[in-house]
Amino acid sequence: MSCHDSFRRSVHYLRISVTDRCNERCLYCFPRDFSGWREKEDLLTYEEILAIVAVAAELGFTDFRITGGEPLVRAGVPGLIREISRTSGVRSVRLSTNGTRLAGLAAELNDSGLSGINISLDALDPKRYYQITGGYLGPVLEGIEAVRRLGFAQIKLNTVLLRHRNEDQIEALLDFAAERDLILRFIELMPVTSREVLRPDNFLSAAELQRKLESEDRLEPLDRSLGFGPARYFRMEKRGVTVGFIGALSDLHFCERCNKMRLTADGRLRPCLGNHLEVDLRPFLRPTMDRHGLREAFLDTLRRKPLEHSFRDYYEPERTMTALGG
Ligand code: GTP
Ligand code: 5AD
Ligand code: SF4
Repeated sequence: MSCHDSFRRSVHYLRISVTDRCNERCLYCFPRDFSGWREKEDLLTYEEILAIVAVAAELGFTDFRITGGEPLVRAGVPGLIREISRTSGVRSVRLSTNGTRLAGLAAELNDSGLSGINISLDALDPKRYYQITGGYLGPVLEGIEAVRRLGFAQIKLNTVLLRHRNEDQIEALLDFAAERDLILRFIELMPVTSREVLRPDNFLSAAELQRKLESEDRLEPLDRSLGFGPARYFRMEKRGVTVGFIGALSDLHFCERCNKMRLTADGRLRPCLGNHLEVDLRPFLRPTMDRHGLREAFLDTLRRKPLEHSFRDYYEPERTMTALGG
């Protein structure tokens, strides 16, 4: 069985946020005055997540990604990944992390059946890194080395573009990725944080960076995707590095191949990151599990999946990125 939305897009990728908590405070994710944490009892239990995965897999979802907040601040994530990867119908389970806790968990994650890992890396200068994330670069670099040493299947680095804040880091990030044979993706800032960060002078479009890199090197488009997300990939010929661009605003075809839905840590199914529509799955989980109800809720959400995000309109986020899982 496979799932299609009302625009005939095949939808087979579920992003699962396991927590809205995070040990960093990235400017683009986290409003400075944020206080809307979910209580622990509002979070889905792993048992509930696995029940949702089983229903999704029956409907034709094959690919899953664990997100947060920072997923690795919740205990037991490697065990959850192992269980998801053993669920009938599941083809891949991947993880998006800020990398700060990776070094200590790398071996366990490597044994869990993980098919790939995306690690945020916005700067290589520790001061710049701190200014953007409120955290420390050292443990992230150790985490990257740990997964490299273990020979992880696919390692991608995520850099959110912020003019004046990390524009001067791009060269070093390209060298870092080239030397280690890692894939580097540049992500355009999306309006899912506080207004003050979204000032136009912070914005650097993926299209502008792509043009700049094209003026210096040949960018050979890759004819296949290196994941299930919206990035477009290129091989930089002279530099010998693979880069990806995620331009939710500058790429006018961004949503055409959308294949995903999102599950928030508190049990809401969202058909699109840039749209307020959500369907609450908790009535089908508590006090008793109603698999038929869950299945109907999935199909209902799928039917209501919009053609594209609303970021180009005046978009007022009701939830921060940390609650949505990117
Ligand atoms: P792979 O392609 O499988 O590596 O996954 P991914 O790129 O979707 O995962 P990741 O968690 O690394 O996300 C990278 C960035 O892309 C984040 O900023 C996400 O918010 C953004 N992103 C992923 N999917 C979508 C989407 O459908 N819409 C929008 N607007 N942004 C997305
Ligand atoms: N715009 C673009 N990307 C974002 N991320 C978090 N917030 C934003 C935003 N406002 C990215 C993180 C991480 C990924 C899961 O989402 O950098 O790499
Ligand atoms: Fe934490 Fe990731 Fe949000 Fe940064 S982007 S504050 S690391 S959840």
